[in-house]
Amino acid sequence: MDDRGSIFDEARQEFDRLTGAVWTPAGQSLVFQLGLRPGDAVLDVCCGAGSSAIPAATAVGPSGLVHAVDLADELLEQGRLKTSERGLQNIEFVCADAIEWEPPSTVPEVGYDAVACSYGVFFLPHMDATFTRLAGLVRPGGKVGITVWRRGALRDLASAFLDAVARHGEPRPAQAESSFDLLERIDTPQGLHQWLAELGTRSTEVRELSNIIPATPEFAWDLVLGGSMRGALSPFDAQTVEVIRGDFLELLAERAIHDIDAGTLVGTAIVKGRNAT
Ligand SMILES: C[S@@+](CC[C@H](N)C(=O)[O-])C[C@H]1O[C@@H](n2cnc3c(N)ncnc32)[C@H](O)[C@@H]1O
Repeated sequence: MDDRGSIFDEARQEFDRLTGAVWTPAGQSLVFQLGLRPGDAVLDVCCGAGSSAIPAATAVGPSGLVHAVDLADELLEQGRLKTSERGLQNIEFVCADAIEWEPPSTVPEVGYDAVACSYGVFFLPHMDATFTRLAGLVRPGGKVGITVWRRGALRDLASAFLDAVARHGEPRPAQAESSFDLLERIDTPQGLHQWLAELGTRSTEVRELSNIIPATPEFAWDLVLGGSMRGALSPFDAQTVEVIRGDFLELLAERAIHDIDAGTLVGTAIVKGRNAT
């Protein structure tokens, strides 16, 4: 296993508990907006446990194929279990780095029909160059699509959490900071339109998925532990983490944070290809 997948491997239980409320609505919206058809070949990078890759596999049917790529072995294993429960045989979960992915020979020579990435693009090293390369694996006229947190989403929750952590004197981890910096360029409809267009695409479409979730203590803490915020807790022992959890929940109550805004942008575009305009 690649070390960079380890945060999400550690997060597997909480990540899984977020599936129904967070990951699946976005994954399904992305697949719908991509307009996948039976027989299509799809690459899903940063696929996690398959929240967009599994709906993609059902959309493309037995004559299509989905390559679902992630660094986190444990999430991939959850994805394999889900697909075998559903009897899907057209999807392959592969532990690999998205930045190095090369299509195997089962993919038509012209390329994939679509590349999807749900809540993952801001984790990719050299985000622009990496995603431009991935878009280059799509045939001219095929599609790329991503989901990202909309500006302001998770903001109140993240501030309460980081304030609780700061009481224990630890700075924010570099990885979380750089992911949030990258996200800032693409977390508005206008920013995402522009970013997609700069990849060499046309007909960009950005839609907003509203998702307001009651902030129960269990769900709020799962959101912290089920994603990259979890990294901020790695310097602390279990006892301190428990104190931070208590402080965090107190701050949510003090600040009257009763709901979590998990608003998301779903952006898709058509790949122009080498000579097209
Ligand atoms: C927030 S999760 C989203 C997972 C999934 N797309 C979903 O929406 O449920 C981000 C995922 O990106 C993966 N990831 C981060 N960097 C990656 C890379 N370079 N190559 C492949 N996967 C990566 C992580 O392991 C994690 O599973």
